[in-house]
Amino acid sequence: MSLADFFKANPDVRYIMYGGKGGLGKTTFSAATGYYLASQGYKVLVFSVDPQASLSDIFERNIFGQGEVEIAPNLYACEIDADKRIKAYQEEVRARIRDMYGMEQIPEEIENYIQAASAEPAMEESAIFDEVVNIVVKGGYDYYIYDLVPLGHALYYLSMASVYDAWIDRITGLREQMREYDKVVATVRRQKSTEEDQILNELLYIKERINKSSGILTDSKQTSFFFVLTPEEMIILDTTKAAELFAKFSVPIRGYIVNRVIPRRLLEDNIPEYLRNRIGMQAGHLETIEKQFGERVLARVPEFDSDIRGMKNIARVAEALFGNGAGPVRQAPAVVAGGGADDGDTGDGSAEGGDR
Ligand SMILES: Nc1ncnc2c1ncn2[C@@H]1O[C@H](COP(=O)(O)OP(=O)(O)OP(=O)(O)O)[C@@H](O)[C@H]1O
Ligand SMILES: [Mg+2]
Repeated sequence: MSLADFFKANPDVRYIMYGGKGGLGKTTFSAATGYYLASQGYKVLVFSVDPQASLSDIFERNIFGQGEVEIAPNLYACEIDADKRIKAYQEEVRARIRDMYGMEQIPEEIENYIQAASAEPAMEESAIFDEVVNIVVKGGYDYYIYDLVPLGHALYYLSMASVYDAWIDRITGLREQMREYDKVVATVRRQKSTEEDQILNELLYIKERINKSSGILTDSKQTSFFFVLTPEEMIILDTTKAAELFAKFSVPIRGYIVNRVIPRRLLEDNIPEYLRNRIGMQAGHLETIEKQFGERVLARVPEFDSDIRGMKNIARVAEALFGNGAGPVRQAPAVVAGGGADDGDTGDGSAEGGDR
């Protein structure tokens, strides 16, 4: 089955994720998949929580922290700014304290506590997570493509349950600390009895949102997770291990995409020895991939002769991933090595309707 056939055959899929080690092509494929699905007339949001602003790079637009930005017809992209969210949290906490105790100014001791709590890594994670939940719960798109950070982190996000627990522990901890402060500010207190309920309600609300989004992440009807790998020994090993681990978290792994395949047809040309050797080595690894993942390999994407940036290049990758139906390529094709390869082992193999 090809990747294009996969989406045709699974119309319920709404959430798409590419996972894999750092630098293998997750962002590139997220952008290309967004491009393809948008060209098919679907409204698509590609979003990322990567502070490296990699979607800004590939779309050649500064979208970091700007909300959902329209990149092309039907194609939207969003880069979440966790810091901004943390600042908003802090403000919320301050406002609540001011409200609860009828204060004008937050006491220094409490302010210090707010600052210290915000510096905790768990705070950043929960801020990011909260934004992701917002996006998903809000709705409005046919497809959501979640451009993940490298494997380890991705797993962390995917094992949401533990993140929630950490989050709720933290809130409970904060709650306990607040109780201490209650004593400190007791002299200026106004109300106190309903505040316990309020916090409990909030926790329940958070829990409900969390359940909804974690349900989505492990829902094999709506969510599809694809692993990106390259024909290299270590990467194959790591991918195999990661896939086992992900399966334990019930992540619906729907296929594998092999990236950076050097077109075999180059062997017919007068190419340097080292390139010849590289192709030979890749052939061995591609065989291993074939044995190991077989039909679950949904596309093979060639090595291009430049980084993938801008719509023109994204379109080329989309073509390699999905075949010629990848919508109109708006500009003249760029000179891209392998982009027009006709070898069965490259992206064009899958372009012809899926060689596997
Ligand atoms: N087939 C390809 N041919 C040429 N360059 C590629 C190809 N695929 C990806 N690249 C380039 O490799 C680099 C890494 O790709 P990308 O950013 O998509 O990886 P990533 O998995 O998202 O990385 P990270 O784990 O850091 O988020 C980018 O510069 C991208 O343009
Ligand atoms: Mg990336």
